Amino acid sequence: LASNENPLGPSPKAVEAIKKHLAEIHRYTNPAAFDLVNAISKKIGKDSNQIVTGSGTDSLLQYIVSAFSEEGDELLTSEGSFIGWYVNVNKYGRISKQIVQKDYRYDLEAIAENITDKTKIIYLANPNNPTGTIFNKKEFETFLLKVPEHILIVLDEAYSVYAQTNTEYPNGLDYSNKNLIILRTLSKAYGLAGIRVGFAVGNEELIKILYKIKLPFEPNSLAQVAAIAALDDDNFLNKTVELNKKSLNRLKEIFDELNINYLPTSANFLLMIFPTEKYTTSFNNECLKRGLILRHVNTFGITNGIRINSGTNEETEFAINVITQVKKILTKEYNLQYT
Ligand SMILES: Cc1ncc(COP(=O)(O)O)c(C=O)c1O
Repeated sequence: LASNENPLGPSPKAVEAIKKHLAEIHRYTNPAAFDLVNAISKKIGKDSNQIVTGSGTDSLLQYIVSAFSEEGDELLTSEGSFIGWYVNVNKYGRISKQIVQKDYRYDLEAIAENITDKTKIIYLANPNNPTGTIFNKKEFETFLLKVPEHILIVLDEAYSVYAQTNTEYPNGLDYSNKNLIILRTLSKAYGLAGIRVGFAVGNEELIKILYKIKLPFEPNSLAQVAAIAALDDDNFLNKTVELNKKSLNRLKEIFDELNINYLPTSANFLLMIFPTEKYTTSFNNECLKRGLILRHVNTFGITNGIRINSGTNEETEFAINVITQVKKILTKEYNLQYT
């Protein structure tokens, strides 16, 4: 339960679509993923010239860093955020400025205060991975007013499907600021992590620039038909959201009983917070020994956090069993009643 994937598997409609198109893989697809872009356009109510697709959000993050910044530019974000952003910033040798979080949430005020003449891009993940926390509409709108128009804001909404029931959650697509790019992925709620589809939505001029560097024929033809089918599979999406809620509620109930701290989440995972890095490493290793794979998020900058995503009923109960055993063993070993 380490990669925030969909425990229900892929959308069945997507699997059917792939099977149906298997015999056509000798053909090139449309270089700009025309059909997929149109399907997304219909789904989200934006013009097709405001949309570009890629092989997952990761691919688009790379394009954004390379297209909209150059050597010496500062790219601003929060600490304790998505590792994929940090990786891409480092890959291109840009200066990464990471602002300290406040109670495991983005401190948007502090991020705005840290804008300098060198700032080119601000990256925000909402909900944030690995904390699962969000910033609300009011906080986001106040922040938007403080950011000069020449600075690009990248709003990564990989987990928006899970957050949308919260009326305080700002849906990035409702904002038409010229310097804003929204990122969405089919890897999480739509269950297509392995086939790699993501898309970016923004002002036509920004999207045009991304098309200049996008690889042609990306995403591949099977990924495109799978994504088109998955976008139309509301039944699967509803089941996904329902199971996620059930699994996370069950985990929270047990964590409360076991005195394991966790953060409030608006995504498909929980971040457990432990007292020390040493304890966290032991906890993660002991779970691993018992067959439970979780994510110690030290690489994201939170050394005392372990992330667990929602699972099927069976996976959730398995995780609870292992975590209960490990908590007991470590409480004895560390001779402390950590809360
Ligand atoms: C915030 C965030 N953005 C993007 C991604 C990557 O998504 P993709 O599979 O589309 O590259 C993830 C995956 O974990 C994520 O947590």
